[in-house]
Amino acid sequence: MSLVASPLTLRSGITLQNRIVKAAMEEQLAGAGQQPDERIERLYRRWGAGGAGLVITGHVMVDRRALAQPGDIVLDEVSELEPFRRWASAAGTAPVWMQINHPGRVVLRDTGALALAPSATRVNAGALSSLYPVPKPMTVADIHEVIERFATTAFLAQEAGFAGVEIHAAHGYLLSQFLSPLVNSRDDEWGGSLENRARLLLRIVDAVRGRVRSGFGVAVKLNSADFQRGGFDIDDAGRVIEWLGDRVDLVELSGGSVEALATSGHTADDRTLEREAYFLDLAGRLVDRATVPLMLTGGIRRSGIAERVLDRGFALVGVATALAQDPELPHRWLAGDDTAVLPPRSMIGSKTVRAAAVQAAVTGRLHAIGCGKDSSTRPPTLALVIDRRRRSRHLARYRRDNAGTTAAG
Ligand SMILES: Cc1cc2nc3c(=O)[nH]c(=O)nc-3n(C[C@H](O)[C@H](O)[C@H](O)COP(=O)(O)O)c2cc1C
Repeated sequence: MSLVASPLTLRSGITLQNRIVKAAMEEQLAGAGQQPDERIERLYRRWGAGGAGLVITGHVMVDRRALAQPGDIVLDEVSELEPFRRWASAAGTAPVWMQINHPGRVVLRDTGALALAPSATRVNAGALSSLYPVPKPMTVADIHEVIERFATTAFLAQEAGFAGVEIHAAHGYLLSQFLSPLVNSRDDEWGGSLENRARLLLRIVDAVRGRVRSGFGVAVKLNSADFQRGGFDIDDAGRVIEWLGDRVDLVELSGGSVEALATSGHTADDRTLEREAYFLDLAGRLVDRATVPLMLTGGIRRSGIAERVLDRGFALVGVATALAQDPELPHRWLAGDDTAVLPPRSMIGSKTVRAAAVQAAVTGRLHAIGCGKDSSTRPPTLALVIDRRRRSRHLARYRRDNAGTTAAG
């Protein structure tokens, strides 16, 4: 049997039928009230039928005052559970885990969202930095509130029928901001040493574990490195994985952030896109020491590479872009097909705009499937224009719905 086809039983007792995981992709498909609707169900029906051993949702926000994008879905104490129940069951027998996230300071100014961070350090996105607000340094009360929000969202995900959650601590969002010595300059027990910087993540993991039943899956997505001088690095990642070891079912490894796009987990630039399994050399250094199953995500788009990653000792492979382009890919890989699915490409000069355009092409593909129009992936430049228009519509609705509760209102 090929490695990808072998089952895996996780600490929580959940058995995955194979090693292919549909990695998180922010769908930006929220309907009214930031709730999921029939478009999400249609999309997850396709992935459920596609044969992945585990399906992880795009990030779902734990606080409706703080969204990464105005089309993001929120699950909090005022959400109706019924739409989430339909989402959880749409994938049929494939286990679906909800990725839960808080963007921290990575909120665009125009959403009027609440920008929280460990310290008052604004995102450095070069010429685009002014799009981000200077965040409010979190008080200890804010920190406890965030812990409680993650635990509440995880509990509600369980109530809605999801089989687990993945806590997003990668890509420069709030938990990754706490881990980073460049963003976190606190001098209390939540900053300074790595032990202190990792405290928020570990408290959240424990709070989530304390709120869900024992057979419920809990994963963490972590950067193998932030790829910034003086930032969270591979040795830090090794120690955090050690601390997570007996607390979680699996740790997914990615890398980068909005400030270090070239290696960002978000589909980045041509050079990164050319490379397959681009974190393998670096993250491979963590595999021998880890006592928890590790999943590697980034640039995996044919079964031969997936086999190589598993052969290196990773327990699971995470696939995002290729599964947007071809939701049935796992079945083909399990049948021995090694055809590569090539990512969308763009010739736009600016690296940042090019990355946004490629990402928009992938998001557009999710929207097409969700709307029942299984058209091929659009050229990135066109996709970006359509994406901006859609974002404006989401933004107008979000601001209307939240007038009075966000800074925009
Ligand atoms: C459209 C899009 C949306 C994404 N949204 C998320 C997300 O919500 N959470 C997350 O952890 N990663 C997100 N990612 C990153 C992917 O999970 C993955 O780490 C990255 O795309 C590299 O894997 P790939 O080469 O298989 O696409 C997103 C990527 C894309 C292309």
